[in-house]
Amino acid sequence: MLNRLSRRTFAKLFSSAALAPSALYSTESAAAGFASALPAAHSFPKGFLWGSATAAYQVEGAVKEDGRGPSIWDTFSHTPGKTNMGDTGDVADDHYHLYKSDIQLMKEMGLKTYRFSVSWTRVFPSGTGSPNPRGLDFYNRLVDELLANNITPYCTLFHWDLPQTLEDKGGWQSRDTSEAFASYAGYVAERLSDRVKHFMTLNEMRSFVDLGYGRGIHAPGLELAPAALNQVRHHAVLAHGLGVQAIRAHAKAEVKVGLAENPEACAPIIENAEHIAAASKAFREENAGYLTVVMEGRYTDAYLEHHGANAPKFTAAEMKAIGTPVDFVGLNIYTATWVRADSTPKGYAIIPAPKSYPHMMSPWLTVGPQALYWTPKFTADLWKVKELYITENGASSADVMTPDGQVYDSDRVMYLRNYLTQLHRGVSEGVPVKGYFCWSFMDNYEWADGYAYRFGLHYVDFKTQKRTPKMSAHFYKEVIARNGLA
Ligand code: NOJ
Repeated sequence: MLNRLSRRTFAKLFSSAALAPSALYSTESAAAGFASALPAAHSFPKGFLWGSATAAYQVEGAVKEDGRGPSIWDTFSHTPGKTNMGDTGDVADDHYHLYKSDIQLMKEMGLKTYRFSVSWTRVFPSGTGSPNPRGLDFYNRLVDELLANNITPYCTLFHWDLPQTLEDKGGWQSRDTSEAFASYAGYVAERLSDRVKHFMTLNEMRSFVDLGYGRGIHAPGLELAPAALNQVRHHAVLAHGLGVQAIRAHAKAEVKVGLAENPEACAPIIENAEHIAAASKAFREENAGYLTVVMEGRYTDAYLEHHGANAPKFTAAEMKAIGTPVDFVGLNIYTATWVRADSTPKGYAIIPAPKSYPHMMSPWLTVGPQALYWTPKFTADLWKVKELYITENGASSADVMTPDGQVYDSDRVMYLRNYLTQLHRGVSEGVPVKGYFCWSFMDNYEWADGYAYRFGLHYVDFKTQKRTPKMSAHFYKEVIARNGLA
């Protein structure tokens, strides 16, 4: 019991009705107030597209169904020693069969949009040649179901699952793969463009090329020498450019075309003119082989000089195709690369992360919310981009299902809140980000890490396929409902 003095002090401290002890300590009233009363202090523009993303091989499963052909990820994940615990995407989230109930969960969260990818080998089991109508039908059903639930589909055409038949003929080392991608992309656009209005060509060129063809830790597991690796990079950006042209040429209605790239997210360690200029320069140069060449249609002088005899071989026509103007740029952003000004001719230096630097469950996922401010800003400023999306952002967390059947992923909530606050900072300054896709809608197959790291807003019990919204799903639902952050 409070004595007289402390009772008075207490009353003084909490003089407003809202802060009366009962309101402070009653979980019931806190929960009731949380649902609708609080305004969004950080509100986003009307119509801001709140979404979530997945990718075919990571969620679909059903790898042998309805005529799907094998991709390099089937081969790689079934090769002993390549993935954590030998995990494969054979079943994954079984989304191929559960897509309808998954879409109900999306609706429950209030998602305005959903980004999915098409599995190339469902549509063309051997990469080229005869299409497989049963494969495309899955995407027809998926798109129809999304639209019936007022969720706008955003479609990625390549999220790393290259047809094995094409890999056997050289994969991305061969220019033919760029052409094959364009034909496939045009075919899908022709059939979905009556309902899908936003297409992304390739997802994260920087990841699938560097990890799969440079470091050998993703499919197809190659460690190419520098010249061959640069040629693979070139074929990837060429595939993007040819893909943009093919989608526009074959679409049956007006569509917007872009890509989903994960540029090195250079950010100034101190926000003053000197370091900001260094970070902007670093952003352009560090991404010279991917986003910069796509936006400028040429390799920077520094890039060509740096690679010398190992620089990619290219023609003027290829460069023109690579630089085909896009309608929007999608950015996948997870970490920040901290940059400082430097007195060398380069003008900048990247600061290596100290051992104590905070990260999420995936060791590579260092925390840097300011990336969600600087990367869209640099992209818009450098290349005068008018439409941007955060096509991925999210975090792996050590999610535990507690006995009350909940997952209290407070670290993911904190991560999202901090990143979204930085996104809000940019948007309110006029950076033209039109939407945000949280990675991921549900836990899924995290490539070589298998099922070890969970990125979902929904917890998935992979034995039963039961989905449970985590605390972060409740948080994100609030963000969507308020169109902003408290
Ligand atoms: C980017 C990739 O596009 C996605 O497939 C992956 O699961 C997430 N990053 C998390 O690593």
